[in-house]
Amino acid sequence: MHVISIDDDFAAWRAAALDAIARRLAPESIDWRTAQAEPGLFNESAAPQKVDQTPQIRVSRELATLLKDAAHFRDSRRWSFLYRVLWRWAQGERAVASAADEDGARLSKMAKAVRRAQHDMIAYVRFRQRDAALGAPEYVAWHEPDHDVLAWGAEHFAARMGKSTWLIATPDGAAMFDGEHLQIERRRALASEHDVDTPDAAEALWMTYYRSIFNPARLNEAALEQHMPVRFWKGLPEGALIPQLVSDARGGARRVAQAQRVGALGGKAVQVEAHDAQPERDAPTSLDTCRRCDLWRNATQAVHGAGSADARIMLLGEQPGDQEDLKGEPFVGPAGQLLDEAMQRAGVPREQVYLTNAVKHFKWEPRGKRRLHKTPAQQEVEACSYWLERELHEVGARVIVTLGATALAALFGRRATLSAHVGRVVPYRDKLVVATYHPSYALRQNDEAARERTVAAIVAALDQARELSAR
Ligand code: URA
Repeated sequence: MHVISIDDDFAAWRAAALDAIARRLAPESIDWRTAQAEPGLFNESAAPQKVDQTPQIRVSRELATLLKDAAHFRDSRRWSFLYRVLWRWAQGERAVASAADEDGARLSKMAKAVRRAQHDMIAYVRFRQRDAALGAPEYVAWHEPDHDVLAWGAEHFAARMGKSTWLIATPDGAAMFDGEHLQIERRRALASEHDVDTPDAAEALWMTYYRSIFNPARLNEAALEQHMPVRFWKGLPEGALIPQLVSDARGGARRVAQAQRVGALGGKAVQVEAHDAQPERDAPTSLDTCRRCDLWRNATQAVHGAGSADARIMLLGEQPGDQEDLKGEPFVGPAGQLLDEAMQRAGVPREQVYLTNAVKHFKWEPRGKRRLHKTPAQQEVEACSYWLERELHEVGARVIVTLGATALAALFGRRATLSAHVGRVVPYRDKLVVATYHPSYALRQNDEAARERTVAAIVAALDQARELSAR
C-alpha cells in the first residue's frame, strides 16, 4: 500500500494524483491521507516522488470542472474517489465523465452539492459591522457551509467588498481580508476571537426592514425552509425573527397592518400564487416572483436568460429594454437587432450563445407616453447577482462577453471601468471575459463613423470570444 500524504486542497491532490498516475499506482493501492486530518503522522513523507518527466493528462474541460468542484465536497474519502475517476480517464475510460457511469454520477452529484453550498454561501452570509478602531475587521460573519467552500466564497466577497476589512468564520476555519490580501485560516475558534454575535446599528435597521417586508399573507413555510434552510438562520440577523413572524402569520396577526401597507404602495399589481410566495428577499423561489429589489414593481415581467446551457459563449447585457420587458425575451428590441448584426458579422449564430442580462427587470422612467431606460443602480445589480450566479453555474459557457459598463461591473464590481477593459481578455473563475461596448451605445452615436467604430469593436469582441471558446 502506498501512503500519499497531501495538504487538504485540490492543487496538492492534483499534483500528487498526476504523479501517482505517472507511477502507474492503481487506485486500490493508495491510501490517501491529508496532513490536516492527521497532523504529525507523515513526517516520513509520502509526498509525490519526483519522476523524470512532468506528468500530463489531458482531461475534458467538463471533467476538469467536475473534479475541481467535487474537491470541495466534505468527505474524507473524496481524494481517493477523485483519483479513481482520474485513473479511469487516464486508462481511456471516457464514460467515467458521464452521468450514466456510477462514478460519473457520483462525481456530478458531489459537484452539484458543492455548487449549492457555494450559492448558499453567497446568499446567506450576513456581515455585522464592527468597530474597526479596535483592530478587528470592520465586518464579521458566521456561516456553516455544507461543504468546503470557504475559500471560494471568500474570493467572491473579496472581489465585491472593496477595501473593507472583514472576516468570515466557519466551524472549520476562517477567511480574513485586510483590504488587500485574503488569508484562509484553517483553524477553529476564530469566531469567538471576533465576536460575530454582537448586533450593530445597521443590523437593527435591517431587522426592522425585514419585519416590514415579511408578508404573512404570502407565507409558504415549506418554501421558506427549503430556500432559506433552517441551519443558516442562526447566521442571519433576520433568522431570529423568523420563528416569531411565522407563528404570528399562522395566527393571522399583522394581516391588517400588512394590507394597509401593501395598499399604499404604487405600481402595478403582480399576481403571485400562494405556492410561489417568497416573503423574504434572499430566498426567492423563482425569478418570476423575485423581490430582491424593487424593480419588479414597475416591470411587466422578469426577463430570463435565453439559450442552451451547453452554449460556449454567454453574452451579458445590462437589463431588458422596453420591448424585452413586453415580450419577456432578452435582446429583441433595437439593441438586439444591432447585436444580431454584429453576431452575424463575427460568425457567432444567436442559437449558439446564451444571452442574458445583469439585471432581469426593466428599469425605466416615464417620458411622455414613453418608458425611458434608466441605468440600474449598483445595489440593484448586486441584488440580481443571485440570478446571474445561478446562470454562471448552470450554463457551461467558457467565455463571457460583457456588453457595456453595467455587465462588466456585475462581474468585477463597480470599480472596473469599461475604458480599462474594452478589447481585453480577463480570467473570471474558470471562464474568460471579453469586455466590449453595449450595442445601445452604438445606437446613441449620431456620427456614422463613430457608430461603425463601436460596432466594429463589438464584432471584434464576439470574434475573439468565438476563437477562445473553440480552444
Ligand atoms: N439591452 C440589454 O442590455 N439587454 C436587453 O435584453 C436589451 C437591451
